[in-house]
Amino acid sequence: MKDIFQIVESGSWSIENLEQLLALRGDEQKKLLSLAGNFLLKSRGNEVYYRGLVEFSNICTKDCFYCGIRKSNKNVDRYDLSDDAILDAAVFAYEHHYGSFVMQSGERDDPVFVDRIDRLLRKIKEKTNGKLGITLSLGEQTPETYRRWFKSGAHRYLLRIETSDEALYRQLHPDDEKHRFRKRMDCLKAIQDAGYQTGTGVMIGLPGQTFKQLAGDLLFFKNFDVDMVGMGPYIEHEDTPLYFRRSELWTPRERFLTTLNMVALLRLMMPDINIAATTAMQAIDPMGREKAVQAGANVMMPNITPSNLRRNYLLYQNKPCTDEGAEDCSDCLSIRLEMIGRRPGFDKWGDSAHFFNRMRE
Ligand code: 5AD
Ligand code: FES
Repeated sequence: MKDIFQIVESGSWSIENLEQLLALRGDEQKKLLSLAGNFLLKSRGNEVYYRGLVEFSNICTKDCFYCGIRKSNKNVDRYDLSDDAILDAAVFAYEHHYGSFVMQSGERDDPVFVDRIDRLLRKIKEKTNGKLGITLSLGEQTPETYRRWFKSGAHRYLLRIETSDEALYRQLHPDDEKHRFRKRMDCLKAIQDAGYQTGTGVMIGLPGQTFKQLAGDLLFFKNFDVDMVGMGPYIEHEDTPLYFRRSELWTPRERFLTTLNMVALLRLMMPDINIAATTAMQAIDPMGREKAVQAGANVMMPNITPSNLRRNYLLYQNKPCTDEGAEDCSDCLSIRLEMIGRRPGFDKWGDSAHFFNRMRE
């Protein structure tokens, strides 16, 4: 294989090169990870941006085979935070200088839900003097809804594509109108067209997934010109249909190491995007998120969901931080960042530089 430095230098991100780089382990992998981590430090500095994440409801109309809060899982206590509780969480994020707030929930697209989000966006803007950045992670909606929420104050949207390989996508979802790969792709485009900083991502180590498909995911991010990416290892949940394919899985360690390589390669391929160090990384390795930052991630999403409800939002099992209060998370994150020579970018929206570079073109 060609030398990593040569590939990076020449920017030759072919499927074949990426496939081989994703498989690196041992000293060669260490070289790749520190190359990407140092590249981030040199080009963007040592700030890591915080996004206060509120998982305001686990009521979901979808039935993805991997997800613990899918609608057919009867073992979940469903909840929906009150408007006041959501506003409190937004104010909490603002007062703790997070600079940005992410609203996530199970997927709904009924008019009552759409109107409610719209109302909440306006109220949050009002309560935080227009200063708190708002990111939505509310799944597939119509282009009109995306535009409406944008107008009301949301400026970023996250919609993971889960995998850019249509055949694999089909294996992970029911075969019906609500779970079409094409629809998801169209939604991501509609989000970009509405003017949002656009985020997507994939799961890593899904049953049957190959390095070639993951290499395809990296090229998809680049070709789609996304502004933000969140990627995490797939973690099985025993109340989901995909659990029955667990014998096909790579070990958790392998999924983790591959995710680190995905983060590092993406950082080298797309120097100015925001990449999240995801909670699922920490579910496998106690220092998972810190390792992701050292490999090129620059965003962390402390959970600010009221702590008594967190155990009901288990997308996967062993999810960390599901029994602490929100205050604990921000203190804990800052200490953790300090340990690896990074610091939180307080009071900044921490926009994706890529978005502005994209707008200038
Ligand atoms: N393991 C890892 N990530 C998961 N997600 C859902 N279920 C799992 C799981 N079992 C991720 C999906 C989704 C995001 C909100 O959580 O990528 O888009
Ligand atoms: Fe939640 Fe550390 S980030 S306890």
